[in-house]
Parts: sequence; C-alpha cells; structure tokens
Amino acid sequence: MNLLLCSWGSLLTIVLPFLFSSAECASDSQEKYPKSIFNFDQLWELEKTFWDSFLYPANVKQTQGNESSIFAPNVQGRVDITRTFDGDELNREYIFGLFSDPTHVSLVGVPIAYNITQFAANDNIASATTVVTFNATTFGILVPVTIDTWIEWNADGKIIQYDAVFRWFEYLLDFLIEGVATKINATSSDKAVAYVSNLLAKTICATHEQYCTGLNQQYTDSAACYNFLTKDVRFGKSYELGKNTLLCREVHEHMVHYRPNIHCPHIGPTGGGYCVDDMTYPQTVLQRYFNDSWIPYRYGEEQDLWLRS
Ligand SMILES: *[C@@H]1O[C@H](CO)[C@@H](O)[C@H](O)[C@H]1NC(C)=O
Ligand SMILES: *[C@@H]1O[C@H](CO)[C@@H](O)[C@H](O)[C@H]1NC(C)=O
Ligand SMILES: *[C@@H]1O[C@H](CO)[C@@H](O)[C@H](O)[C@H]1NC(C)=O
Ligand SMILES: *[C@@H]1O[C@H](CO)[C@@H](O)[C@H](O)[C@H]1NC(C)=O
Ligand SMILES: *[C@@H]1O[C@H](CO)[C@@H](O)[C@H](O)[C@H]1NC(C)=O
Repeated sequence: MNLLLCSWGSLLTIVLPFLFSSAECASDSQEKYPKSIFNFDQLWELEKTFWDSFLYPANVKQTQGNESSIFAPNVQGRVDITRTFDGDELNREYIFGLFSDPTHVSLVGVPIAYNITQFAANDNIASATTVVTFNATTFGILVPVTIDTWIEWNADGKIIQYDAVFRWFEYLLDFLIEGVATKINATSSDKAVAYVSNLLAKTICATHEQYCTGLNQQYTDSAACYNFLTKDVRFGKSYELGKNTLLCREVHEHMVHYRPNIHCPHIGPTGGGYCVDDMTYPQTVLQRYFNDSWIPYRYGEEQDLWLRS
C-alpha cells in the first residue's frame, strides 16, 4: 500500500512495484514537507552557542541591550517547574538574568560549566540533555543540575521556542536542604527549610524595599512582607516555582531590578499572574501553548495536543 502513496505514477507503481525502492518513496514523501533549514552540524553549533551564552559571566551580556542574539523577539518558552514565558525581553531576564549574580542569595547560584550528554536534532529542532555545573554560592557548593531541553530555531538561528525540564529537581532541592541541615546542625529537615525560608524572605523583602516603591509597592512594610512570605504563603514543592509560593517569589526576585513595574507584582501578595495557583495538574499537562510543532517536518500535527489551536 505504501508504494501506491508515492507520487511516481500509480500505474507504473502497480505494474512494476519491485523497481521502486523504498528509498525513492522516502525522499519522495519528504518533498511534501518543508526542507530542513539546518543540518546536524549547524544544530549542534546552535545548541552549544546557547549553552555557552548561558554560562556566567557570558550570561551577563545577554541581559544587556535591547535585542537578543539568542532569542527571537516573539520566543515562546516553557519550564516544567515554573510556567510559560513569552517574548525576548522576559526570557533574557529569566533565562540569563536569574543566574548572573554570584553575590546574590539564590538557590543554585551561577552556571559555570556544562556537558551535553544527549543530543538528537533534525530540521530546526534539537533535543538535548545538559549537565550544568552551578556554583551555588549561597550554599558554598558546586552542584550538577541536569536540564533536558527541546529547542527550535528560526531561519536566523534565533530560538523561537524552547521547552525545558529540570531532571531530578526534587532530588536537587532535597539535596540542598540536607546540605543546609548539616551546615546548621539542624535536627530535622523542617528546621533547615525554616532556615532557608528566613534567608529567602529577607532577601526578597530587601529587594522589595529597594525597588518596589511608589506605585510598585506591594507590601506596607518589611515586616508585612516577611510575615506574608514566611507565614501566609507555602514554601513550595519542587514543581511549584510558578505557583503561589515562596520559591516562586525567590525566582522572580532576581528579575525585579530589571523592570520593577513588571516584576514587583510577582513578589507581592497577588503574585502578579506568575506566582499564582491558576492551573490544575491536567490543565498544566494539557496546555495548548506552542505555536509550532515539536515534531520535525510537521509530522503528526493533527494529533498534537500541545499545539495552540
Ligand atoms: C536598541 O538600542 C540601540 C542603541 O543601543 C538603538 O540604536 C536602537 O534604536 C534600539 N532599538 C530599539 C528597538 O529600541
Ligand atoms: C502564536 O499564536 C497566537 C495566536 O494566533 C499569536 O497571538 C501569537 O503572536 C503567536 N506567537 C508567536 C510566537 O508566533
Ligand atoms: C565537561 O566537559 C569538559 C570539556 O568541555 C571537560 O573538560 C570536563 O571534564 C567535563 N566534565 C566532566 C564532569 O566530565
Ligand atoms: C564559586 O563562587 C565563589 C564565590 O564567588 C568563588 O570564590 C569560587 O571560586 C567559585 N568556584 C568556582 C569553581 O568557580
Ligand atoms: C555544628 O556542630 C559543630 C560540631 O558539633 C560545631 O563545631 C559547629 O559550630 C556547629 N554549627 C552551628 C551553626 O551551630
């Protein structure tokens, strides 16, 4: 039956099926789809270009200027432990800015090396696994963080879509908390979590005090801020960095200084649409977010439930 689908002329195909190799059919069927924009070498280079620019201090440069050499202006991104992020400016603040200050209190610190351990690529899409070494300066350790990514580039070689998964993230959080417990001689992991909560809340409230003034003010004072972050809102599970949690506000705290008017609400009580409990588990898993398919040559588009309808 497959041979009949080849556009070579069905009469010949029926009469002389053995003369037509499957290779001819394969190349024939590919013509129904757009040609590859990039070859494997180019996709490998694009992948490495991204990770090179992700490392500190190269990432500092990516947060500056008004145009990205990495992201397309209308980039769409998703990170499993947080949520979706639209547009070049937000993504530069988030992907690069979040990990660019070793002196600032943070969970994982700054990325200083990476090793790609898995890579497959076709058309303008690559799937990779990268083990990134972070210098977790707040905790005084080097920690490997495994990030699985799907990246799609546009014809200019800029990222138009990405989808990132932090592999073993719960294990990583527990590891960091255990490390803190040991360091402070805590008798339980709850005490270590309380220690980290205190540290993060103080940092977020200091940032609020400095940058969220006037119309951008979210809390009446630092005491109200600290109270809210340590008592009224939950610390957050490993998948709740984009929900109504302290961990989410810790993520957004790093971006406040770039654009206080945009980011102050994210660290405030309302969560500003980013640190909010707005989606259930099924809604998260079934979200129709991406404009482009993650399957090369647009195979299987009709069954792709992540495509925006
Ligand atoms: C970006 O910045 C450059 C100079 O830094 C300026 O010439 C250009 O107009 C700016 N572009 C936009 C879109 O703001
Ligand atoms: C994706 O599609 C939506 C709806 O058509 C559109 O508003 C949005 O600009 C598109 N985004 C990109 C990155 O093309
Ligand atoms: C990661 O790759 C670099 C080379 O890019 C290499 O020097 C380093 O040893 C690798 N790290 C590990 C843990 O293998
Ligand atoms: C990690 O950061 C600390 C503090 O900035 C620095 O002293 C140390 O050299 C860094 N370690 C590595 C391996 O870069
Ligand atoms: C933890 O215990 C060790 C050994 O008992 C001690 O030297 C250290 O000062 C303690 N650290 C803290 C933060 O209490």
